[in-house]
Amino acid sequence: MKLDTHIANDKYLSDVLNKSEFERDDITYLLELSDKNDIQLLYKKADEVRKEFCGDEVHLRGIIEFSNFCEQDCVYCGLRKSNDKLERYRLSVDEIIDTAKKIYSAGIKTVVLQSGEDSHYTKEDITHIIKAIKDSCDVAITLSLGERSFDEYDEWKTAGADRYLLKHETANEKIYSALHSKQKLEERLAHLKYLKSIGFQAGSGNIIGLPKQTIEDIADDILLCKELDCDMCSFSPFIPSPETPLKNISPADLKLTLKTMAVGRIVLKNAHIPATTALSTLTPEGRKLGLTVGANVIMPNFTPDEYKDKYRIYANKKTYDPIKYVEELKKMINSMGRKVSEDKGHSLKKNI
Ligand code: 5AD
Repeated sequence: MKLDTHIANDKYLSDVLNKSEFERDDITYLLELSDKNDIQLLYKKADEVRKEFCGDEVHLRGIIEFSNFCEQDCVYCGLRKSNDKLERYRLSVDEIIDTAKKIYSAGIKTVVLQSGEDSHYTKEDITHIIKAIKDSCDVAITLSLGERSFDEYDEWKTAGADRYLLKHETANEKIYSALHSKQKLEERLAHLKYLKSIGFQAGSGNIIGLPKQTIEDIADDILLCKELDCDMCSFSPFIPSPETPLKNISPADLKLTLKTMAVGRIVLKNAHIPATTALSTLTPEGRKLGLTVGANVIMPNFTPDEYKDKYRIYANKKTYDPIKYVEELKKMINSMGRKVSEDKGHSLKKNI
């Protein structure tokens, strides 16, 4: 490349990186960067934006995967209803509450309750769990139970739940319909909007590397998170799951995943962004890499040993002893000049 073209390109990149509002074309341009130095500049900018808007604290959220039963049949997910090879489990209400206490004892101030869509747990069961955890532990509670009724959301919010995670998975309606037999993107978005409207801190996000997904689709995912004013956004790589129709699809490209997180950070500014378990499954250094490209959240898994291997959303999901893992994480985070947050790590949006 001629020197003057080089200089013009560098100027263009730096102009885009320094914008405060981003058009779809800006986002696709950034996601398509391929030159090593350009990508480093993108990561550096994402890290600066993370520092300016979120600070150096990393928030740990202890997750309990309390049931792998699922009434949905998402084509990418190992928990899908039609996977009859998966041994199913449910934690009892008491086991869930005990596990939450372990999370709190480990010094973690957010408990994430996650499951497949499992109506075995009634509105009253979940309410009881929320109240029991809130009574005995000073923690924030995040629910991640899939789509439930608006009435249930109301009751759980009143019971004390703080946050709800419901990823939109893909903003492309055609891809969404191809992957979800019963659900509609429009309904998903209506749920997210409702959750926010009643005061939940809401989390959404996508899966990167889905069949037929384009760079424009990923740009739309980021823009949708912005439009929804999400408090948390998870951009995670697709990883094939053996007993699903997508078992032969390649895992997401690592670089594209990191670029998406970085662009997500630059566009969304103060949203919480996790370095996901899926990212650490894609590459052993995943969590650390994620924290350098804009992430500020990690969700250590506290699902009891006898169950955690069965929460098989995708293949080769990392398992570990959570107490040791949290110690290792703290060391890693400190060695990066960052700090593990000691508070609940609520939304950084001003309206909360
Ligand atoms: N690869 C990556 N992420 C997946 N999820 C489900 N299946 C996969 C997969 N094969 C994600 C979805 C869901 C979250 C709990 O797990 O985004 O919201």
